[in-house]
Amino acid sequence: MSSTEQRVAVVTGAARGIGAATAVRLAAEGRAVAVIDLDEAACKDTVEKITAAGGRAIAVGADVSDEAQVEAAIARVAEELGAPTILVNNAGVLRDNLLFKMSASDWDTVMNVHLRGSFLMTRAVQKHMVDAGFGRIVNLSSSSALGNRGQVNYSAAKAGLQGFTKTLAKELGKFGITANSVAPGFIATEMTKATAERVGMGFEDFKAAAATQIPVHRVGEPEDIANAIAFFTGDAAGFVSGQVLYVAGGPLN
Ligand SMILES: NC(=O)c1ccc[n+]([C@@H]2O[C@H](COP(=O)([O-])OP(=O)(O)OC[C@H]3O[C@@H](n4cnc5c(N)ncnc54)[C@H](O)[C@@H]3O)[C@@H](O)[C@H]2O)c1
Repeated sequence: MSSTEQRVAVVTGAARGIGAATAVRLAAEGRAVAVIDLDEAACKDTVEKITAAGGRAIAVGADVSDEAQVEAAIARVAEELGAPTILVNNAGVLRDNLLFKMSASDWDTVMNVHLRGSFLMTRAVQKHMVDAGFGRIVNLSSSSALGNRGQVNYSAAKAGLQGFTKTLAKELGKFGITANSVAPGFIATEMTKATAERVGMGFEDFKAAAATQIPVHRVGEPEDIANAIAFFTGDAAGFVSGQVLYVAGGPLN
């Protein structure tokens, strides 16, 4: 890569929350960013934030669990921005319930978005990374990987992503590609807001209650996670691979 060439990053689920903050942060690091989410129009805000600050970004609508849509999205990214060599598998959903009340379809939805989605995206992007002899993959795990009541599907998927990450690190390392996992604790986003609604609490009270259990005495913000992802995706992180970093305001695991 010449010094004037820009690395291209793909961030999934980047219309809002952690994905949006990550897209903005990676653009500030000088990356061109493909902002991928279910609905292309919903990516507009993130793209505008990046371009208003002088960066390069495109909005791409794709369901990460759909093989054809993923292949088409990555082909479009390669054509419009250049070959992607940074991938952040961030798209995610919750379908919480206690085991005895959980439907098979809620199990499948969570597996499909987190595990199948990360697999399809990584498989589509890795060929560009191998050709470039460089790649950075970050998979979003969660503190729930350690077990969380009401999240048997989500915790299994997030623990699965840690094994996925370690295997990617072993298979792809020889091509200059690293794979790491960032496991957030409580981050204030639409996802945790929806959880507050589900348990019948106001979001401010929910956050305040969570903060009392967190050693730094506050909940996380999307930028806290974007900062960790910026480290793992940087050129300087080439000897850090197969790791899981809990970003949770205190020790976990
Ligand atoms: N918020 C937290 O406290 C927290 C904690 C640990 C892990 N995480 C993980 O971080 C990631 C981001 O979470 P967030 O809090 O920003 O969530 P969020 O709900 O605010 O954003 C998730 C985004 O993913 C998109 N998405 C969902 N399904 C998709 C699909 N099939 N294809 C493409 N896009 C899809 C949504 O449209 C949404 O824009 C998720 O993987 C989540 O599991 C979040």
